Parts: sequence; C-alpha cells; structure tokens
Amino acid sequence: MRALITGAAGFLGSHLCDRLLQEGWEVEGLDNLLTGREENLAHLRGHPRFHFRRHDVTRPVEVSEPVELVLHFASPASPRDYLQNPIHTMKVDSLGTLHTLGVAKRYGARYVLASTSEVYGDPEVHPQPEEYWGHVNPVGPRSVYDEAKRFAEALATAYHREHGVDVRVLRIFNTYGPRMRSDDGRAVPTFIVQALRGEPLTVYGDGTQTRSFCYVDDLVEGGVPGRGGGRAGGHGAEPGQPGGGAGPQAGAAGAGAGGCAGAHRPPAPPAGRPAAAVSGHHPGPEASGLGATGDPGGRAAADGGVLRPAAVGAEAGGRVPRGTALKSRAVLPGPG
Ligand SMILES: NC(=O)c1ccc[n+]([C@@H]2O[C@H](COP(=O)([O-])OP(=O)(O)OC[C@H]3O[C@@H](n4cnc5c(N)ncnc54)[C@H](O)[C@@H]3O)[C@@H](O)[C@H]2O)c1
Repeated sequence: MRALITGAAGFLGSHLCDRLLQEGWEVEGLDNLLTGREENLAHLRGHPRFHFRRHDVTRPVEVSEPVELVLHFASPASPRDYLQNPIHTMKVDSLGTLHTLGVAKRYGARYVLASTSEVYGDPEVHPQPEEYWGHVNPVGPRSVYDEAKRFAEALATAYHREHGVDVRVLRIFNTYGPRMRSDDGRAVPTFIVQALRGEPLTVYGDGTQTRSFCYVDDLVEGGVPGRGGGRAGGHGAEPGQPGGGAGPQAGAAGAGAGGCAGAHRPPAPPAGRPAAAVSGHHPGPEASGLGATGDPGGRAAADGGVLRPAAVGAEAGGRVPRGTALKSRAVLPGPG
C-alpha cells in the first residue's frame, strides 16, 4: 500500500508519515519546506519505504507509482504563517488541492483533506455542529486561510460528486504536540515557551473564552479515516471538537478536551464547555500530552526551536513553573 502525504515535513505531516510507515505503508512525502523542517523527517532518512521530495504542490503533482491514499496536509497553518504568506496560502489550498485531487482521481485513491475549524470563521454557535455553515468575513485578514479551506472543501466535494473520488474532510481543531515550532504563535507552544522562561502566560480577552485542543497522537489515531471515523463525500471528523468523532469513544462520549481519543481523553467537561488548558479542566501534563509536547528543560525550545518531548522523569514534568502568572490581553491568539 502506498500513500502520498503533502506537507510531510510539517508538524502533522511528519507524524502521519511515522504512523503510516509503522503500519507498513510505502510513503511518498512532498513538501516545499515553507513552514516545515527537514529535521522533522531526519529520523526517517534511509527508511526503505519512505521517499521524500521537495516539491511545491501549487505546481502539478506527479507520483512515481500508483497510490491508494492521498493525505493533503500542505498549507501554512498558524495565523503568523498564513498572514506572512497570504497568496501562497490561497494557492496551496486551491491549486494544491486541485493537483492532489487529480492524483486521487487518477489512481482511485482515498483522499483526505486537512481542513480546519476556521471554516466556521468567527462562529456564533458553540461548539459548532457540522450543520453550522459558519460566520466568515470574506475580506477580513484571516479570509486568506478561512476561505481557502472552504474552497478546498467545496472542490474536494465536487470531485466526490462528479468523479466519485472517496473524499474525507477533517476539520481539525487546535492540535498540539512535539515538533511544533515554538515560535509559530499558536497557543500551546506559546504557553509552553512562556512557562519555560518563567514568564506570565498570555491569555487574550477576559479569560472566559474557550478553545478545543487535541493531542497529535489522537488526531493521527482517530482522525485519519479508515481508522477512527469518516464517511465518503463529507466530513471525516472534527478532531479537536468536543464530540468531534476524532476517536472511537469521542462521539459516544460527546465530549473531551477536543474530542480526543483513548488514553489522552480526560473526563468530560460540562456540556457545551470544551476543556481548555487554562480553564481549570485540564487533565495534567501526562494525560493531556503537554509533557510530551514541550521539553521542560527545553532551553532550545524557549530560544526559538522545535518542541521536543519531555525527558522521562524530568524535573518539572512539563508543569508550569510555580509562580507563573496569567496575564490578559485583548484578542485570542489564533488557532491553526
Ligand atoms: N495543527 C493544527 O492545529 C491544525 C488545525 C487546523 C488545520 N490544520 C491543517 O493541517 C495541515 C498541517 O498543519 P501543521 O500544523 O502541520 O502545519 P505546518 O506548517 O507544520 O505544516 C504544513 C506543511 O506544509 C508545507 N507546505 C506549505 N505550502 C506548501 C506547498 N505549496 N507545497 C508543499 N508543501 C507545502 C510546509 O512547508 C509545512 O511543512 C494544514 O493544512 C493545516 O491547515 C492544522
């Protein structure tokens, strides 16, 4: 079995490469290294079933051999990244999606699109059910990402309806874990770096806003259709969303810190209240994967590197150092 993964050198893409290789797949990874890093794949160098190519998927995509699965994860994902690359973001989610859908159509492969909770824009409904179509400003600063992903969803759905491609759409909510860049501006890495530096944690707004979070293993475990959930021609799942079907138990339980599956799923928070790292519902560093996300002795991360798992038995265990304060600002840091 052979899979094509775009965005393979990125945070999520590299974890997907690991998992598919563990399961015996042959993996062809493409990435133009815009926001990803080759070091995320360094451990796979020389792997007999892994083939990496530096390629920009806004250009036509060819694969060396037929594939059964296409995972389209290439796209700047953090607000900092997509606001620095607004046109490229729109191209990778439109042209990149078109080119990779072409590969899936040619080989009869299942197609998984990495979409986002941002398709709901600035939602008026919490948590967002699939039936909710969103509240998006088409000319707002974030529209380059929100509308590009909405277009990608529409294009993938059209390929399903017109060509019968087996399309699955994942609306991913804030996912975190090792290999995130510590300086990409997303909430969890920002908290971890501030904690490592002993600085106050920045909480935007008045502190009452909630976020859904999902640990990367749970996204990989439950979010990739064929394993956790999903149906052809529509959403696969909403990993990170309470009850979002990101795992075998998530939908049944209807809650969890980001609808997370298995060992990382904490007790259900009150209905309609996703657990958030700063809400008081957090399950602790081990259960949440926070300890695995940031190295507590991590000077490298704090100085602007890639987040690495905490060493087993390490002193702080990934906890926020005593005396770390929360401070408030006006706006929420952006989700991915
Ligand atoms: N991490 C999250 O919480 C989250 C949330 C919602 C959606 N997503 C989606 O998941 C996907 C992966 O996100 P991530 O967090 O791993 O981000 P990331 O920035 O770590 O990974 C994205 C990868 O895509 C690559 N890329 C960008 N443009 C490309 C192009 N034209 N051709 C080839 N490669 C290109 C980048 O170099 C990078 O390696 C994205 O599509 C993102 O929108 C992620």
